[in-house]
Amino acid sequence: MSNLFAVCIPGLEDFTAQELEQLGLGVKRTLSPSVDSPPGRKPDDTGGGVEFRGSLPDIYRVNLHLRTGSRVLVRLGTFYAAAFSDLRRRARRLPWEGYLIPGQPAAFRVTSHQSRLYHTGAVAEYIAGAVADRLGKPLTIRKFDEDPVTSLPQLIVVRLVANHCTISLDSSGSLLHRRGYRLATAKAPLRETLAAGILLASGWDSASPLLDPFCGSGTIAIEAALLAKKIAPGRARHFAFMDWPNFNAAIWKSLMAESTAKTPSPSPKIIASDRDAGAIQAARANAERAGVADCIEFSCRSVSAIKPPPYPGWVITNPPYGVRVSAGKDLRHLYAQLGKILRAKCLNWNLALLCDRVQLLKSTGLKFDRGIPLRNGGLRVRLMQSLVK
Ligand SMILES: C[S@@+](CC[C@H](N)C(=O)[O-])C[C@H]1O[C@@H](n2cnc3c(N)ncnc32)[C@H](O)[C@@H]1O
Repeated sequence: MSNLFAVCIPGLEDFTAQELEQLGLGVKRTLSPSVDSPPGRKPDDTGGGVEFRGSLPDIYRVNLHLRTGSRVLVRLGTFYAAAFSDLRRRARRLPWEGYLIPGQPAAFRVTSHQSRLYHTGAVAEYIAGAVADRLGKPLTIRKFDEDPVTSLPQLIVVRLVANHCTISLDSSGSLLHRRGYRLATAKAPLRETLAAGILLASGWDSASPLLDPFCGSGTIAIEAALLAKKIAPGRARHFAFMDWPNFNAAIWKSLMAESTAKTPSPSPKIIASDRDAGAIQAARANAERAGVADCIEFSCRSVSAIKPPPYPGWVITNPPYGVRVSAGKDLRHLYAQLGKILRAKCLNWNLALLCDRVQLLKSTGLKFDRGIPLRNGGLRVRLMQSLVK
């Protein structure tokens, strides 16, 4: 059993913990949401996340099934190091040979807080030296760049806090929101992991109707269909752990077989629309690739022309809020129209809406809860919920 850490978008920790518990894993503790840290920070070990324990097959299972996590880190070891000689000596004792092939490309992400070893470049060099001591050959050090997503180097995450060094290996490779289906995008697409988090936070029961009237490239509707049909989000992609020397292909094969052998769940009514024909075309193509096109009713229409079923469900949506889409436009009219349409056509429906403009929310005339603070592509937003009255 190893100590593991699921990195997630700050604000989604509770939902990531809930998912891990549903996978039967013991969650140790949830880090407090760090939404107040500076925007634009790369998701890494210092962001939001959940600590848990698990075996090698659990690492495969979590990568395959987790909907809200961004990556899964394996804690290789934690030790005290206040001098570079200690760092190299102690790092040399870690079982690198299970995870790295001598000479392979690797990238370091190092952070240091209140520690004597504050030069992050030198910390990386000494740890690379320790790996070379252990494996008999140095790694090929590269920059970790998500684009292009093919052949990423193995990411090694190092964190020094008060002279305590934690070394982790990334088991995911490209971030977990890259499910492989969203090749076509419209304006300001949501990360798939955020869309899944919104769905879990909304309390949608996976059976009642779900409507997204501002669907863009269809992320919310597609993630809803994957969730309702219990389709593993990672079934079509590559993971870093598949390149580890300790990779057990037979276990992976049986986990994949287990995930596809489940009896198909009935599909709820999922309706997605957008006024932009190009967005609908992209959304359909994405749903097709995700294998859920037959579960979603797509149509090109303005929010004023939505046609929800006569019985209640959930409206879960990400309307423009004037930063990345409709920048500079006064959107109060659109939000007032949304409120009016929902009261007329979706009375007693649950509403979950990603936005952070108090003025715009007021324009709907609906009463919202305090919301859940989240991050959408570096922007601070809130998931606001209401019962349409
Ligand atoms: C923030 S984007 C949604 C992104 C989407 N969640 C995704 O992951 O791709 C907002 C969408 O609202 C659509 N939109 C703006 N005004 C609209 C209106 N009056 N009726 C319907 N759709 C509208 C835009 O075309 C845009 O695709």
